[in-house]
Amino acid sequence: MRAHEAGALHAEGYRGPTWLQLPHDVNALTPSLWAQNVGRSGDGVLQVAGVPVTDLAAKFGTPAYVVDEADFRWRAKEFAKTYDEIFGDLCGGADVYYAGKAFLCTEVARWIRDDGLNLDVCSGGELLTALRAGFPAERIAFHGNNKSTAELELALDAGVGRYVVDSFEEIARLAFAARERATVADVLVRVTVGVEAHTHEFIATAHEDQKFGFSLAGGDALEAVRRIVGLPSLRLLGLHSHIGSQIFDTAGFEVSAHRLVGLAAAVRDELGVAVTELDLGGGMGIAYTEGDDPISPKEMADLLRDIVTRECTAYGLALPRLAVEPGRAVVGQSMITVYEVGTVKKVDLGSGHARHYVSVDGGMSDNIRPALYHADYSARIACRVSDAEPILVRVAGKHCESGDIVVHAEYLPGDVAAGDLLAIPATGAYGWAMASNYNWIARPPVVAVRDGRARIIVRGETVDDLLARDAGVTPGRAAGSEGAAVQ
Ligand code: LLP
Repeated sequence: MRAHEAGALHAEGYRGPTWLQLPHDVNALTPSLWAQNVGRSGDGVLQVAGVPVTDLAAKFGTPAYVVDEADFRWRAKEFAKTYDEIFGDLCGGADVYYAGKAFLCTEVARWIRDDGLNLDVCSGGELLTALRAGFPAERIAFHGNNKSTAELELALDAGVGRYVVDSFEEIARLAFAARERATVADVLVRVTVGVEAHTHEFIATAHEDQKFGFSLAGGDALEAVRRIVGLPSLRLLGLHSHIGSQIFDTAGFEVSAHRLVGLAAAVRDELGVAVTELDLGGGMGIAYTEGDDPISPKEMADLLRDIVTRECTAYGLALPRLAVEPGRAVVGQSMITVYEVGTVKKVDLGSGHARHYVSVDGGMSDNIRPALYHADYSARIACRVSDAEPILVRVAGKHCESGDIVVHAEYLPGDVAAGDLLAIPATGAYGWAMASNYNWIARPPVVAVRDGRARIIVRGETVDDLLARDAGVTPGRAAGSEGAAVQ
């Protein structure tokens, strides 16, 4: 293997991405990035719903995920209300399924339940969390490209409302398990509509060459419908497509809706069966930095209404009931992560430029997205304001690899130093949900704040948690099967 000298490629001439502008005020909070009840108090300390982050850090430690409960619930309710209003007179409203994979715990499941949304789960673990929270099973849709028999049986026994079937094997498994229980399962067919969504390739899901769904172009989607219609223990409700995640460009949704309606017409023409539900999935993008300019839920709903109405009219179809499955667009902005700075290192980039590596007490174990997708985030000093000149920083974690980045590029006050608290906005979606124990670091707590009161909704891990499954420490647990997860 040959080594090369690190140099130009990694450092020289780099002054941050083009979207990153030198801020007028390096303490300012751009409203599109932050939860609604996050602001600075008179002394400059960031507060969430009236609670200073300095108090939160003192009480719950750092890192900590902090969710603005009222903000989360406002976004969730706005989604439900917007879709109801926009589709109310057309097809009696539309269903909003919160995609639990973005962030789910029993408390969040209860918020979603009480605020009138449905829930999308994609594993036995998510399903059990929802059921444990008392979430009504009939308002749950079960997703996944490889649901096991045990998961399907758990869902059938609980009375889950919808199965978004993803493979021929699953159709057979579900039909068999439903028949054994003398019940009928309501299904939607996940269709691969052949759309290249403009997002990171790991989170684009409806182009042909990937694992999800039945291909429309290849004829598998129509064949799946044929099989379902022929099985008495399954009832076809509709068609489903999810084209990807963190999408800003509406063209993909337009093509997807067009193709799903075309398939609904083919189902009617060939099988004489009405498709009564159309689920267009999630994927609506949010702002992580000032460079992001997503469309609002209302703009999106208006657009979907126009497309679906136009396509159904063209095919002479009655408008099916519409559903969407936002995850990120509900929870993303509602949460921040609070870290404490431990070290600051200056790297000379040449030509008078420098980058400061600001290392915090978490990193890729509590937010893998920058390392996995090169996702960008923003940052602010949370414990004070400063009038020091801005400097270009890279916020790094404490893990043992150089790709352990929290924020690739940001400006912070030049006096940022060890002991400062940093807040990262918009960490609600797929942060906690994808957290790991890499480097054997305990996962942080999730703290919900509302009306000046903070409480833990998921406690942070302890050293005992880290060692609990280690057979050398607690031998009794190693072979234990009690309370095993459904997989
Ligand atoms: N519906 C289905 C069938 C999905 O697979 C997903 C996300 C959603 C809805 C919700 O998508 P959202 O509205 O949250 O974009 N870990 C990646 C995202 C993976 C998304 C997986 N499926 C990330 O951190 O960006």
